[in-house]
Amino acid sequence: MSKQHQLEELLQQMTLDEKIGQLIQLATPFFKGAGNDGQITGPMEEMGISEETVRNSGSVLGAAGANQTIHIQKTHLEENRLHIPLLFMADVVHGYKTIFPVPLAVGCSWNLELAERSAEIAAKEAAVSGIHVTFAPMVDLVRDPRWGRVMESTGEDPYLNSQFSRALVRGFQGSNLKNDTLSVAACVKHFAGYGAAEGGRDYNTVNMSERQLRESYLPAYKAALDEGCEMVMTAFNTIDGVPATGNEWLMRELLRSEWGFNGVLISDWGAVKELIPHGIAENEKEAASKALRAGVDIEMMTACYDRYLKELIEEGVVEECILDEAVMRILTLKEKLGLFDNPYRGASERLEKEVIMCEEHRRQARELAEKSCVLLKNNGILPLDKEKRVAVIGPFANSDDILGPWSWLGDRKQAVTLYNGMQKNSAHLTFAQGCEIERVTKEQLKEAIRVAEQADVVVLALGEHSEMSGEAGCRADIQLPLAQLELIKEMQKIKRPIVTVLFNGRPLDLHGVMEESDAILEAWYPGTEGGAAIANLLFGMCTPSGKLTMSFPYSAGQIPVYYNAFNTGRPKDAPDAQERYVSQYLDIPNEPLLPFGFGLSYTTFRYRNGTLSEQKLKKGETISLSVEITNIGEREGDEIVQLYIRDVSGDVVRPLKELKGFKTIHLQPGETKTVSFTISEEQLRYYHRNLQFKSDNGAFIAYVGGNSQQVEGFYFELID
Ligand code: GLC
Repeated sequence: MSKQHQLEELLQQMTLDEKIGQLIQLATPFFKGAGNDGQITGPMEEMGISEETVRNSGSVLGAAGANQTIHIQKTHLEENRLHIPLLFMADVVHGYKTIFPVPLAVGCSWNLELAERSAEIAAKEAAVSGIHVTFAPMVDLVRDPRWGRVMESTGEDPYLNSQFSRALVRGFQGSNLKNDTLSVAACVKHFAGYGAAEGGRDYNTVNMSERQLRESYLPAYKAALDEGCEMVMTAFNTIDGVPATGNEWLMRELLRSEWGFNGVLISDWGAVKELIPHGIAENEKEAASKALRAGVDIEMMTACYDRYLKELIEEGVVEECILDEAVMRILTLKEKLGLFDNPYRGASERLEKEVIMCEEHRRQARELAEKSCVLLKNNGILPLDKEKRVAVIGPFANSDDILGPWSWLGDRKQAVTLYNGMQKNSAHLTFAQGCEIERVTKEQLKEAIRVAEQADVVVLALGEHSEMSGEAGCRADIQLPLAQLELIKEMQKIKRPIVTVLFNGRPLDLHGVMEESDAILEAWYPGTEGGAAIANLLFGMCTPSGKLTMSFPYSAGQIPVYYNAFNTGRPKDAPDAQERYVSQYLDIPNEPLLPFGFGLSYTTFRYRNGTLSEQKLKKGETISLSVEITNIGEREGDEIVQLYIRDVSGDVVRPLKELKGFKTIHLQPGETKTVSFTISEEQLRYYHRNLQFKSDNGAFIAYVGGNSQQVEGFYFELID
């Protein structure tokens, strides 16, 4: 008998309560003897869950550790009448115990291979700890750095986000979930458009056309599903006035019918019950009805399904076949993970000891952190001379708060701080706290000045504590806290070169930092090996290669500012632009302080001899754009070469540039390489007014360069 038939037979045996139980996800504390160390990431509430519901529940949120998960599973299998195994799900976003840089940093590496490896390692450490599903990758496109969760995304570009989405799903899931018990199922989130919350305020309204949603925000979710992602998590926000978690168009018409997704859909934490405050359900019963009919299979951490689904089905308000479909999807996922054959899957205390935080995992975390840092400014002070006396000053100088807000089981005590890392490279280090994240005392400043005066160069380690970022970590003012700006001013008086290292989860307004520093290295939250990676970069053991995947605004007043914007009818930089009546601010520039794709190196790359193979691109054929790149500096380095394309005139307005390709090359000093990009008609397709996804014949410009502003353009025409 086929597995499908076996599952259908099992479904036939299930009572209504047992079916509904599969749709209930509970946090660890609900399970006997599980302890209270389960991860709680949302508003916990008195859910009034019965013992019977626990016995019938289908999955657990936030349990971890082979011992704990084996115990919960064993107890559950004894108590569940049909011995249906639990699914264990948790947020393993950028590492389990070995924490990698936050995804926004990983995005800046433009390194899909290392990203995939990081997900593979995270999956391995999670799987031996008994986790079956991770709530990742988060692929929400972001354009507003006030939003706390931009750190969880890979940035503002649909194409790049889609590439990372695929790489992370491959890393988490491997090639065979059933046989590879050191993989985990991925759950792409948050479906959909969560990053477009108005005002950059978490959980806020999202308002955009279906066309823009399809053009910019949906591609990365679709990429995850095309890569075989097993689960989808609904977003908290509305889409065109309907909350995603109750949005039948989004989940049934688009996700299931149009995209053909038949995996499991889980709500975000409490999002089913939140249909009430959103205002499309009067009570939990209506919320349960709307969410299930819209397509939510598992309700996370509220009890609308538990309390009302039975009644709704017995009253005929919700058809039992809808419930059966949801149960079958959940049972099928359990089957895909091999849980009916082996409910403990990869959980193993022995393997935990062998695998978790092993040296190879730490080395990979260090390498990815080195590639994820972005050199924003350098007047030549970097790389540091190891013989120089270096004062390391600031709230992050020796801080272990460098794992980021979604590091859950990451152990900060295991993190390599900046000071620890630098000690390995220099015997002439001194330290001063300088200030706290948001407070400074005269004594701290006095001590910092004293230490700085005895040094040749000052490394200022500044930033946001991890609670100033992440979920519900939104900031209207995205400058560094005043205490830190005051510290910079005091350090300037000492007349020593200042190297500023930033630890933060978002693009910042760098007023008070950019002018005042001789060099700036953006380190984001660099993870367990962060301090070691940064030290290697500062002392030139490796050369920075990261490039921004999210624009740094000139100030918060510019937000949203992103590279793939439209030209408008009165572009400020048009040749015939008037003085006043153009699209501009009276008080700040239009351009971001630092654009998408920007990042410096310790060497210099010269682009020249760009050529298009043809001026005309015939449908069904391709042309190529080639460019010669020479390392004209004294140090070897990596350069991320970018290809952008502009559709000069379309059925709707088209972005000034769209990333369509990138390649990383390594060049020795004096070395030249030619990089070629293939351009095809498929890359020119977009959503028309009637939502048809196709290209138009006509004029295009292909751009190649080292960032979205420093490019050379080449005209070509698409013809039949
Ligand atoms: C949180 C987050 C979501 C996470 C979930 C479970 O509210 O929005 O990303 O996966 O709860 O922890």
